[in-house]
Amino acid sequence: MGSAIIGIGLMAFGAALGLFLLGTAAVGAGWEPTSRRKVSRMLELSGTGPTDIVYDLGSGDGRIVIEAAKSFGARAVGLEADPLRVLYSRAMISLMRLNGRAKVEWGNFFHVDLSEATIVTMFLTQGTNQRLKSKLLAELSPGARVVSYVWTFEGWTPKKRDEEDELSLYVIPDRVEREARGT
Ligand SMILES: C[S@@+](CC[C@H](N)C(=O)[O-])C[C@H]1O[C@@H](n2cnc3c(N)ncnc32)[C@H](O)[C@@H]1O
Repeated sequence: MGSAIIGIGLMAFGAALGLFLLGTAAVGAGWEPTSRRKVSRMLELSGTGPTDIVYDLGSGDGRIVIEAAKSFGARAVGLEADPLRVLYSRAMISLMRLNGRAKVEWGNFFHVDLSEATIVTMFLTQGTNQRLKSKLLAELSPGARVVSYVWTFEGWTPKKRDEEDELSLYVIPDRVEREARGT
C-alpha cells in the first residue's frame, strides 16, 4: 500500500516535471494567455449566458472559465494538461467562490468527452484545431458554438469573424447541413 502511494506520487511528480521542462506544446499548444478584454469578447461573440456550459480546451490559468462563470453566469469547465496551472486556477476559483459553477480538470482534452458543452473556447494552434475537428463534430450537439482565438478551422465557414480581435465563431451543423456540405 505504502509503496503503491510512493509510486503514484513519483509518477505524478515525473509528469509535472516533464510538463514543466518540456511544456505542453507536444500535446496541443504551449501557454500564452488571452488578454482579459479578448476573453470577454470571446464570450460575448458566442452569446454565453446562464443556460450555457462552456468548455475551455487548454484552460491555462483559468481566466476564460472564471470569466464565463463570474460575469456571464454560465457553468464552466476548463481542461488543462499542466498540473501547476490546474492548481493555480482551482485556487482562484475557490478564492472567488465560484466552486459551484466553475471547475478545472487535469488531463489531455483529446481524452475527455465534450458532449455536454454548449460552447467550446480555445486558443491553441492551427494544427491542433485541425486535429480537433472530428472530435468536435462527433461529440458536440448541433447548434453548439465553437470560438477560436487566432487559429481557424480550415474548411469550416465561420458564422462570425471578428478580424480586429482575431476571433472566429463556428456553429456545429445538424446532420442535414453536414450531408449537404459533405463534412
Ligand atoms: C495558448 S494557452 C491558452 C490558455 C487559455 N485558454 C487562455 O486563452 O488564456 C494553451 C493552453 O492549452 C494547454 N494545452 C495544450 N494542449 C493541451 C491538451 N492536449 N490538453 C490539455 N491542455 C492542453 C496548454 O498547457 C496551455 O495552458
